[in-house]
Amino acid sequence: MVQSTLKDGATPLHVAIIMDGNGRWATRHGLSRSFGHRAGARAIPGVVRAAPNCGIGTLSLFAFSADNWGRPCAEVDELLALFQHFLEGEAARCRAEGVRLSIIGRRDRLPSSLCRAIHAAEQQSVDGRALHLRIAIDYSSRGSILEAARSYSGASVPTSASFAAALARADHSGAPLTAVDLLIRTGGEHRLSDFLLWESAYAELLFLPIAWPDFTDKDLTEAVAEFTRRERRFGALPPFGGTPPRIPGAQGAACRSI
Ligand code: FPP
Repeated sequence: MVQSTLKDGATPLHVAIIMDGNGRWATRHGLSRSFGHRAGARAIPGVVRAAPNCGIGTLSLFAFSADNWGRPCAEVDELLALFQHFLEGEAARCRAEGVRLSIIGRRDRLPSSLCRAIHAAEQQSVDGRALHLRIAIDYSSRGSILEAARSYSGASVPTSASFAAALARADHSGAPLTAVDLLIRTGGEHRLSDFLLWESAYAELLFLPIAWPDFTDKDLTEAVAEFTRRERRFGALPPFGGTPPRIPGAQGAACRSI
């Protein structure tokens, strides 16, 4: 079993992962890119199962960015079909294991069969409390921020909290947004690719050379252990006793609210 590296009673973490490197993994193994994506899908359940034991309360996975529509049609179709297959296969398991599943991103450009699978998976798992698993499909952080901004009428002035609520609505987040504590990108590239820009203001960043299909529960545990060794100052000065400074307005929610 994966052992938690967090202290007992610590606030559950929000960990975000940019699951990169499927294509290069496949090429290295002499396989097609679509095989790489299928291998990437197979890596997800083990990581999800390990997450609560690593002290993670919210796990956000980047599966398909709004810019990924620019890939060849065959690859896009293959990915969309894979997401649908994954949701149809994993929803019952998520429910059984107390995992709440939400899909963040736009819905209006997805095939209706995928939208139905999203709706069914979200409904089936809505009571899950062990972990909130958020999978980003047709997601753009800048797009969500723009959409949230558009929802304000000329008269109202956003606060940080009200804007985060508007952003959660724009994303179909299904729950209040929480700050990302640790953002991991696999695949060896060092960039954010328009993922959770608002939520990651003080995220610790970890770029790993390992391709996503090879990422395991052990890698997740090591990533969280690395996170616990980082000194987080949130723009203040150390020491503050190992716990983040009190954020005015933060409720004792599962993960740190924004
Ligand atoms: C990036 O690798 C990965 C993607 C664009 C798709 C992510 C999809 C998965 C991990 C599998 C399916 C997910 C679910 C939720 C079922 P890349 O293709 O850009 O790899 P490369 O950079 O090596 O070419």
